[in-house]
Amino acid sequence: MLQQLVYCSKAVHLMDSSELLQLLANARQFNHSVGITGMLLYKDQSFIQMLEGDEQQVESLYARIQQDSRHYRVKTLYQQPAQQRAFSNWSMGFQNLHLPPAENFEGYSAFMSPEYDVDALLTAPQKALKLLLYFRSYS
Ligand SMILES: Cc1cc2nc3c(=O)[nH]c(=O)nc-3n(C[C@H](O)[C@H](O)[C@H](O)COP(=O)(O)O)c2cc1C
Repeated sequence: MLQQLVYCSKAVHLMDSSELLQLLANARQFNHSVGITGMLLYKDQSFIQMLEGDEQQVESLYARIQQDSRHYRVKTLYQQPAQQRAFSNWSMGFQNLHLPPAENFEGYSAFMSPEYDVDALLTAPQKALKLLLYFRSYS
């Protein structure tokens, strides 16, 4: 059964591009081997990630991700069976959100604001989904 899972977390420190690229290279290689797709967003020290794939594969990867010492406060926002993948072309899409977008997009602006706190997403997980999907065409 196809499963989609979205979580948010905080990096233990600001991650530079080489750390992020290393993380992604490993993630893409593994995800490709087990048919996991998705999207990872990073801004300052906040992550939002969607994992999608076979339920057991998603759960076992998520269990490992939760143990990863590079981040903490890992909180599940969304976990549902799905009919189809949202990121079928991406073994892990990625956006490092340094710059504001050309377009003004509500969820995105919130994520960009200095007061932004991922905990706000816990009460409105659909915002996380909207944000992830917004970047589908940009990766
Ligand atoms: C924010 C974040 C996202 C991650 N995403 C993935 C991913 O999509 N796929 C993956 O294989 N590892 C991902 N990792 C790395 C895993 O947490 C873990 O290091 C990797 O699966 C190797 O696991 P192991 O150290 O238990 O062998 C991610 C780590 C972090 C901090």
